[in-house]
Order: sequence, then C-alpha cells, then structure tokens
Amino acid sequence: MQYSELKAFPTGFLWGASTSAYQAEGAWDEDGKSPSIIDQYEHPKEYADFKVASDHYHRYKEDIRLFAELGLKAYRFSIPWTRIIPGGTGPVNPAGIAHYQDVIRECRRYGIEPVVTMYHFDLPYCLEEKGGWGNRKTVQAFVEYGKALFTHFGSEVTYWLTINEQNTMILHPGAIGLPAGGKLPSKKELYQQNHHMMLAQAKVMKLCHEMCPQGKIGPALNLTAMYPASSSPEDSIAAHNWEVLRCWNFADVPVFGWYHPLAWRYLEDRGLAPEVEEEDRAILQGATPDFIAMNYYSTATIAASRGDASDVSARAGDQQIMLGEEGVYRAAENPFVSKTKYGWVIDPSGFRYTLRKVYERYHLPVLITENGIGAPDVIEDGQVHDDYRIAFIRDHLHAIRLAITDGVEVFGYCPWAALDVVSTHQGYQKRYGFLYVDRDEFDLKEMKRVKKDSFFWYQKVIEENGAFL
Ligand code: BG6
Repeated sequence: MQYSELKAFPTGFLWGASTSAYQAEGAWDEDGKSPSIIDQYEHPKEYADFKVASDHYHRYKEDIRLFAELGLKAYRFSIPWTRIIPGGTGPVNPAGIAHYQDVIRECRRYGIEPVVTMYHFDLPYCLEEKGGWGNRKTVQAFVEYGKALFTHFGSEVTYWLTINEQNTMILHPGAIGLPAGGKLPSKKELYQQNHHMMLAQAKVMKLCHEMCPQGKIGPALNLTAMYPASSSPEDSIAAHNWEVLRCWNFADVPVFGWYHPLAWRYLEDRGLAPEVEEEDRAILQGATPDFIAMNYYSTATIAASRGDASDVSARAGDQQIMLGEEGVYRAAENPFVSKTKYGWVIDPSGFRYTLRKVYERYHLPVLITENGIGAPDVIEDGQVHDDYRIAFIRDHLHAIRLAITDGVEVFGYCPWAALDVVSTHQGYQKRYGFLYVDRDEFDLKEMKRVKKDSFFWYQKVIEENGAFL
C-alpha cells in the first residue's frame, strides 16, 4: 500500500532499549540470589558464561546515566525471581527488593520509563528440582512472586511483561541451555509446562490489575509472519500451520482465554494435549492483557511437509535451532531477503507484515520489546563503526512507521540491546548493544562502556521523534 503521506511516530512514543538480567547483570550468586536454571544449565564451553556478564548489577548507575544520555524514554529489563524470592516460594529477599527499587528510582530520575519483565528464562533452580514448570505448584509460586513484585514496585512501574518468549522456551528449549546430562524434556512434557505457564500468566495479569490500578501488563512473545515458499496451496497451508503453532497459539491463550483450535487439534492428534483441570478455562478467561509485547528479529519461509524425517533441519549458521517438523512444515529459503552472519533472516517488510497481523488479530496496542542485529562488533581506536546496525534499525523503524501509517497502534520500540550482553548461546562474539562492553569471551578487562556509532545515530532518532526515518 502506498500513501501520500506517512504518519509520524506518536507523541510520547516509548523510545527504549532492552536487556535481560541473566545476560547483563552478572553477580550470579550475590546479595542472597539463588541459582536459576540458567546458572545450572550446560552452555557451550567456548563462550562466556553468565557469572559476570556485563556487570550491570554493579554498574547500573553508570549504565542508566548513559541510557539517559542516549535519550531513552524507556528501559526494558528483567527482574530475576531468584533475587526476590531465592527459595522459589517463601521469604522475600530485602537486598533484592532494595536493588530494584534503586534501579527503578534511577530510571525515574532521568525520566526513563521502567518496563519490567517478570520472567526471562530464569526459573529458580530449587523449583526446577521439584519438577519446574511441569509441576502445577509452580503456578502458585509464580503468583506469589508476582505479588511480591506488585507489592514492592507496583506504585513505580506501569509496564509489566509477564513471560519472555514462552514460545521459544517451548518450541526450542535447547536454545536457552541444556539441563545437566543434556536431556531436554519431551514434547508432551513441554506442552504441560506451557499450560502451567499460561495459567501462571493469567493469574498474574489478574493480580496486577487488582493490585496496581495504573499497571499495564502483557505477554512478550517472539512473533513473526510466515511466507509460503511458493503459490502452491500446500505451501500456504504449511505456512499457516507453523504460524499458528509457533505464534498465534501463544498469544490466543492470554487474549482469548483458550488455545487456537488448530493448535489444540494438533496437540490432541499427537497425544501432546496437556492435562487440564476443571477450573483452568475460567482461570485463562479471567484476565486479558493490556497490550501485546513483541520481539521481532526475522521472518521464516515455509514449504509443505514431505511427511518424513527430512522435514527437520538445522538453521543455517545456528545449529542450536532446529526448524521443521515431520508432518507439519519444512523450512525453505527465501531468495528475496538477506541474512545475518548467524543465519537470521533480515526482513524489515516482514516486520510491517507481522505488525499488521498481530494488530488485526488482537486489536491491542503493541510494544516492541526486542529487535536488533547480532554482529561480531570490533573496537578500533576506541570506536565501534557498526553501520550495519544503523542500517538494520533504520529499516526496521521505517517499517514501524509504515505499520503505524497502516493503522497499527505501536506505542514503543525497545531494541535489543541497550548495551552488549552475553548472547543466549554465542557469548560476546555476537553483540547487539548501542554501548560496547569492552571485555572478551574470557578476559574481563575493565568492561569499559564505549559508545558505538549506532549510539549517536539512535540518539538523534530519539531527539527528532523519528522524524527523518
Ligand atoms: C531473544 C531473547 O530471543 O533473542 C534474548 O529474548 C536473546 O534473550 C535475543 O538474547 C537474541 O538472541 P541471541 O541468541 O542472539 O542472544
């Protein structure tokens, strides 16, 4: 669709940036924090672990000052359950509360809106030992944790994100790390975990609305539109299969209160349907989100399944992610898009297309909580020339502007990442930040923060409310 004039970014647009606690903070066992599953999982030995990360836990004041200089209007970060209730359930840790009160105060001091993720992959390990998300008791434990967050931070935080990328955790559990011994849960177990997360999410959304009158809460999912590999009807059906199973099913439950019908049929047919108790439908229908938070990196292109094991293949450039499912879909190449060094498709138009679909489906305002390009940035003479990041973000912001012109309500953009953090499984060789953190995979150096070229560019974007995009 072409327009005579593009709409401007709305006044008050939340120009932001994101991190997650375990990837940025370090201090993995300080101030009463207990280990999370991330701390106990096996990760590739050739990359940095999460023990020190970017030392954001100790340097948050310096970092937030730099975010203010960047001009951020919002900072999306996660609070780890393990710092707030180290035992998973039970007593609250005063040091954990004090730390995040201070982080939030620091943001507010500069007029930065804190956007808080309640759960970013980091279940307390003590709960994992009792069955983790597979154990229905974890639902109540999460509600208890939510109650602690709303009690201590509810008056200072407006935007809450329940669970980050539940779809990634369920569909690609290996991407987050491998449990000791390397054995991942079965699909049946994963869909039971998923059901419990859905219940936990619905309960904390309800609780947030009860406890925080000004609070707004929503799920943060990795959403992406799918293209059929050809105009063959079978390819279109396969693309729809995967779009439903990968994306819509995870957002339909919080918004509509029950599973997408196609996804439920898939689960039933394969013996993967979770055990559901009588009260569950009422719980899921008892709360709705105020917005959809969306992480967008790339699109996928899908061909019809051949119905055999060849449907499954590893993503080029990232062997940790397996694509395709026998009898459902297979991954295909798209000649119209380029890729990052790690095989992630670069597709700004796909961003606009995904935003249209999300808004058309849910009619809820959208907050972009992740988007960005991972690259092996190089520091030379104290400078980082990341023109590829500027191009990536410029094109994706232009796509948002087109989507806004299309009528989609987008109220903020928090790209990944505010500063360099440890990648989920590629260490510091894959960086995303506006601020370079000067450390190597194993040599921590002084971890000096260095403003990349993209920092100065994004600063100007924010200053002008995106006018020149
Ligand atoms: C998202 C996650 O899936 O992608 C982040 O929410 C993650 O935690 C980001 O870091 C980029 O992925 P990666 O594997 O390149 O670090």
